[in-house]
Amino acid sequence: MKIQFLCIFVLVFTRIIKGARDCIKLDVSITQKVENLGFHRDVHWLIKTNDLNKEKWLNSSCNAALRLDVGSGMYVNPDQAEDLKRLGKINIVVDGFVDVEAPAHEATKHTVYIFLNKSELLDKIIIKLPIHLRYHRSLMGGHAKVKLTRPLFLISCLENNIICGKGKKVTAPTSAEEPGVPKVWKNITYKADFEEPELLVPIGNLDDYPCVAIISCILGCAGCIYILSLTYNQNYYREKKQ
Ligand SMILES: *[C@@H]1O[C@H](CO)[C@@H](O)[C@H](O)[C@H]1NC(C)=O
Ligand SMILES: *[C@@H]1O[C@H](CO)[C@@H](O)[C@H](O)[C@H]1NC(C)=O
Repeated sequence: MKIQFLCIFVLVFTRIIKGARDCIKLDVSITQKVENLGFHRDVHWLIKTNDLNKEKWLNSSCNAALRLDVGSGMYVNPDQAEDLKRLGKINIVVDGFVDVEAPAHEATKHTVYIFLNKSELLDKIIIKLPIHLRYHRSLMGGHAKVKLTRPLFLISCLENNIICGKGKKVTAPTSAEEPGVPKVWKNITYKADFEEPELLVPIGNLDDYPCVAIISCILGCAGCIYILSLTYNQNYYREKKQ
């Protein structure tokens, strides 16, 4: 009886060890850069894997994707995304309604998924995503700060536990070709050598405020009166001289 237990224990234990050894080690690092100033920016990501087992990876059913949660301070233009997809530049799905006209305080969030090429992931992938900052209304003027959140790196495989380590389950579209079909992905921790940057956006659209409109109207009138009085005085003195 005892020996049987021991056998089962050893068997289970060796299976666990074997399973852990056979899993694919996914060591991912991502570098992020934001280019341009003002309302239209380009986010660049350099995604690299370290010592990824080529055979195991390519033979697996796994796929990788990035998920970017886009807050109300900015947006990814769905038409532009569609163009980039059509041109084969980026395999992208924009999930959620995007109002490209809405100012930040009226806008809603959306999510962007970028599906990564499996064989390119063996080395490195460079992705360029255009993002657009929304108008911010404020009486203060100056600049508003918009946070660009860190993207999630997602993996989905048919085989159980084929990727080493744990990761929270998240639901995301199956692929760019099947954006309406959700499936379960694993949220993988990666090395990021960047903070979540705060992008500065000029504050505009002050005309929307009645108070500002009235003040600028008063200032405008005062300016007119002042200039008129100057010319009147000049004419008056000129006439006096003559
Ligand atoms: C992935 O990239 C390789 C090499 O650049 C290319 O040959 C292949 O067609 C790409 N696969 C997909 C599905 O885009
Ligand atoms: C995904 O994983 C990252 C890194 O481990 C973590 O910071 C983030 O909160 C996770 N997000 C979700 C939705 O699970």
